[in-house]
Amino acid sequence: MQQWLDEAPSNIALIKYMGKKNSETNLPENPSLSYTIEHLKSQVVLELSDNPYDSWEPLKLNCATLINLSSEAQERFLKHLVYLKNYFKIKINFIVRSNNNFPHSSGIASSASSFAALTKCAIKAFCSLTKESMPTIEKQAFLSRIGSGSSCRSFFSPWALWDEDKITSITIPYHALHHEVIIISRNKKSISSSLAHKLIKTSPFYKGRSARASTNLKELIQSLTNKNWEDAYKICWQEFQDMHQLFSSCRESFTYINDDSKTVLNQLQEFWRTEQDGPIITMDAGPNIHLLYRADQLELANEFRKFYLKGNFDVL
Ligand code: DP6
Repeated sequence: MQQWLDEAPSNIALIKYMGKKNSETNLPENPSLSYTIEHLKSQVVLELSDNPYDSWEPLKLNCATLINLSSEAQERFLKHLVYLKNYFKIKINFIVRSNNNFPHSSGIASSASSFAALTKCAIKAFCSLTKESMPTIEKQAFLSRIGSGSSCRSFFSPWALWDEDKITSITIPYHALHHEVIIISRNKKSISSSLAHKLIKTSPFYKGRSARASTNLKELIQSLTNKNWEDAYKICWQEFQDMHQLFSSCRESFTYINDDSKTVLNQLQEFWRTEQDGPIITMDAGPNIHLLYRADQLELANEFRKFYLKGNFDVL
């Protein structure tokens, strides 16, 4: 049977997409800015199927550990395939196989890379079947956004800017940052980011959130452009704290930040105070801590792992 393969990287937002204007099309309330994480990827293979339905299976490729998607996650993935099939007027069915090159259950959200990979692979398959030319990257990213909002930023590298229905790359004078994620917990989170987007609307701080994110974005672009790393670190810190404050202040409040997250965040602040330098720090809708180091800070990254983390947490 004919097959198509494609892959896409993950991305980490420094200015967060949290809150939607439209939950059908994942239109965001505020602009977001992300750095693409080239080494954390999802791969998707589509194969023509004789079955009267689409189905999902884990992809066995390069001996990576097999992922096991919950039935809801499979349903959501296949729903996006159906959306794409309708868009391209494709009436045949497929077996979808997918995998991530990062360990499953590592506590890293994989929806950005997996939805981007599915969108790329499906468009490749449909265009080869219909002999139509491939849509632009902007259009592909636009279609991917409908599956999972943050996936649209994975089409641009190294930096992506997403505002309303426009996704573009943006020139920032830091190209090869070193990304690490400190794994605080590998457990599946009880509140998905899709649910968090809805719940935060009940927070009293939600009203000013869009304006705060836009201000943070403007200031962050300015400090990165001026190569003011410390200011960039401070803005990113304030930005993820702002998002997490929405979580803890909504009507049925919840939090992803546990005691271990707090301990490591305190250590990172102490590290910055001692060294007068350090990584940009951010957290998504989960307890794990993402770090971005400049290319000239690799020694510093080793130091933090050795003298502060002391092997207490896995680092990817
Ligand atoms: C906290 O893209 O996972 O990671 O559009 O419902 O799939 P859906 O949400 P999702 O939200 C990501 C939220 C975030 C911040 C970000 O990546 O900007």
